[in-house]
Amino acid sequence: MKDTYILAIESSCDETAASIVKNAKEIVSNVVATQIDVHKDFGGVIPEVASRIHVENISMVIEETLHKANMKVEDVDAIAVTQGPGLVGSLHVGVQAAKTLAWAYNKPLVPVHHIAGHIYANQLITELKFPLLALVVSGGHTELVYMKDEWSFEILGTTQDDAIGEAGDKVGRVLGLPYPGGVYVDKIAKDGKPIYSLAKPKTENELDFSFSGLKSSVLQFIDRCKRKNETFRPEDLAASYQETAFETLLSRAKIAIEKYNPKQMVLAGGVAANSCLRSKITDGLAKEYSDVEFIIPPLSCCTDNAAMIAVAGTIAYQHGVRADYSLTADPGIDL
Ligand code: KG4
Ligand code: ZN
Repeated sequence: MKDTYILAIESSCDETAASIVKNAKEIVSNVVATQIDVHKDFGGVIPEVASRIHVENISMVIEETLHKANMKVEDVDAIAVTQGPGLVGSLHVGVQAAKTLAWAYNKPLVPVHHIAGHIYANQLITELKFPLLALVVSGGHTELVYMKDEWSFEILGTTQDDAIGEAGDKVGRVLGLPYPGGVYVDKIAKDGKPIYSLAKPKTENELDFSFSGLKSSVLQFIDRCKRKNETFRPEDLAASYQETAFETLLSRAKIAIEKYNPKQMVLAGGVAANSCLRSKITDGLAKEYSDVEFIIPPLSCCTDNAAMIAVAGTIAYQHGVRADYSLTADPGIDL
């Protein structure tokens, strides 16, 4: 069978990324230009700044991707691009670049949902088996997704307020840690113990999530300590936050596993890089449900990249998903 090469572009938030992937599993080249150093000074992503930097970087990132692969645009089968969700200005830059390439080289244009990309990142390390459950944990999303078959997505539960990554970043900020806070909360929590009791998230639907109450509980804890002139170990507070947040994730995952009997459960999204969450899955959940195969993406595929968009883009391409040149960025697109 002929090999399929997809060139993908991802620019939904603060990474300008392009990648070429062969047959939906082999990375030929993968380039990510991160803007973290710029946004760090503001303590979060400034959308207007992000889209301007995407404009500056996008051509260079695509050229480097082709150069590293020793390929030309003519050699790929299609151009895939993240259509949404994300920051509209940021998405727009990637979509325009993809449309321009597709038009100039007469290639099919394949729109991809960012979350489908995070889920399919796992196909870079293993063959996905269906039915599959995906626990999507990123800066903008917290979702339990059921995939009965390839390229079929049903959202079983979602967050009622903050996404888990967003909550971790805010907790990091109130602890005085650099951006992105979640990464540093993970780091300091390794030296802490979950000794503080924080508000446990409650939701009406047993598969939904909620993190704003927990985030407020961390804030109130710090305020109370300040008011009473009491000290606390930030490491212990970070560990307590993670313990409460991740227990919510795992309790929902368990209900979904028992209800839907998946062959595989995959972790997806930036927070999948968290060391505590990864060990809770490998040392806890995987042992409790030994008939389910648990897949945790390698650290390099957890946060935003275009290889994951290329993998999902290949599957979409094989399923006949196409867009014409009227394609526009859609920050609120459904999976
Ligand atoms: O998937 P991603 O790169 O972007 C979105 O689609 O949102 O996820 C970014 C999120 C940020 O909130 C970041 O703090 C979080 O992933 N993150 C982590 C870790 N690495 C990245 N959160 C906790 N622990 C980590 N090690
Ligand atoms: Zn993402």
